[in-house]
Amino acid sequence: MVFKRSLLALFLVCVDKAVYAQSNFSLYAYGKGIEPGLQLFYGDGQAYLGSSAPSFVSQAVNVSSGEDAEFVATPNRTVDGWSAEPTLFIDLTEGANNPIGFVKKNESLGSGSTVSGFGLYGGWAFHKDDGGPIAMKFLASPTNETGIYLVKWNAGATRADDDVPISLRTLAPVPITA
Ligand SMILES: *[C@@H]1O[C@H](CO)[C@@H](O)[C@H](O)[C@H]1NC(C)=O
Ligand SMILES: *[C@@H]1O[C@H](CO)[C@@H](O)[C@H](O)[C@H]1NC(C)=O
Ligand SMILES: *[C@@H]1O[C@H](CO)[C@@H](O)[C@H](O)[C@H]1NC(C)=O
Ligand SMILES: *[C@@H]1O[C@H](CO)[C@@H](O)[C@H](O)[C@H]1NC(C)=O
Ligand SMILES: *[C@@H]1O[C@H](CO)[C@@H](O)[C@H](O)[C@H]1NC(C)=O
Repeated sequence: MVFKRSLLALFLVCVDKAVYAQSNFSLYAYGKGIEPGLQLFYGDGQAYLGSSAPSFVSQAVNVSSGEDAEFVATPNRTVDGWSAEPTLFIDLTEGANNPIGFVKKNESLGSGSTVSGFGLYGGWAFHKDDGGPIAMKFLASPTNETGIYLVKWNAGATRADDDVPISLRTLAPVPITA
């Protein structure tokens, strides 16, 4: 996996302009120690993984790609109080290890946070800062609900023991047949 990832990163440096997808999809998480293919959800402004949306959020919505290399919450219905689809952001502050969040167009972003530079390559979600390397520093952090994880971005902090490094991919899990 490590070998594959470094090859992928090398390749991405050359082709990153061509890889921003513009279609509907869902993102699924893969990582050691978590059930393969948990789906990524927008939940009340934060990003969660689960086989279904967390029960403690009031608004749960799929995440898709928007224009300009952004990931956006894409409801299949009209959502009260949304003037626009909330856009996913990560905190790139050196040494931070903060939850990924979503910001509405009329809300301001914290310093160090960004909504742009995201993309998909071969179905793998990545972030690329201006002039920076390709990064896939997503973490899944357990919540108080079994099988539900909060998604964080690791900008260089020492991660907690129960934070699991994950890949986010458009590849849906293979159904398990008994
Ligand atoms: C994505 O899905 C939404 C809702 O079904 C639809 O309105 C939109 O046109 C789709 N976008 C693309 C690029 O397929
Ligand atoms: C999320 O997307 C999947 C696949 O397109 C779809 O089956 C599901 O209904 C969507 N769920 C929501 C809450 O939009
Ligand atoms: C939206 O997705 C949810 C969850 O998958 C589903 O229950 C609901 O019927 C969908 N609504 C529409 C309008 O497709
Ligand atoms: C953004 O717009 C929504 C809907 O119009 C509104 O509910 C919310 O208070 C606004 N937020 C800010 C920070 O202006
Ligand atoms: C679990 O955590 C969520 C998010 O922090 C919170 O809203 C919810 O009340 C918590 N549930 C329980 C049973 O503690």
